[in-house]
Amino acid sequence: MYEITYSSIVKKDINKDDIKDILSKARIHNSANGVTGCLLYYNKQFIQILEGEKEVIKDLLKKIEKDERHFNIRILAESEKEDRTFKKWTMAYKELSDSTIQTLNESLFENNFLTFSELADKPTRVIRLFWEKAQRLITDNNRL
Ligand SMILES: Cc1cc2nc3c(=O)[nH]c(=O)nc-3n(C[C@H](O)[C@H](O)[C@H](O)COP(=O)(O)O)c2cc1C
Repeated sequence: MYEITYSSIVKKDINKDDIKDILSKARIHNSANGVTGCLLYYNKQFIQILEGEKEVIKDLLKKIEKDERHFNIRILAESEKEDRTFKKWTMAYKELSDSTIQTLNESLFENNFLTFSELADKPTRVIRLFWEKAQRLITDNNRL
């Protein structure tokens, strides 16, 4: 099992229909190819975690990199791993607002279980934690 986390900058004129299109195509392709993951949208940026077989993920990333709806794709982390984090999600999606980030930050930093250095070093872990917290805020798993 392989996992890649990247960030990218959203193209200026992107709208809700573009996001719907990305997600509907992604979910069809991903379920046919054993890909799972999450996509976060915050502050004009995407952060995506993709998980699946290594070849499949590398090929998919090449395709995503060419997508003109975003640019400046930066790989934040990639690694082999045993299990999927997003087993049930062909592509989970959440748009984060400042207030959500605030809530998430507060819970992330409770009990000091996450330090600022970890934030910089382990982006995937941080996003997973974000995601666990964010799930509380999601009413419908598969829709915008
Ligand atoms: C931020 C972002 C994330 C995407 N994630 C996926 C994904 O997880 N799976 C996928 O198949 N396509 C994803 N896409 C869409 C692909 O770039 C591509 O448009 C789509 O797979 C359709 O490709 P096709 O026209 O060759 O069928 C993503 C695009 C963007 C901009």
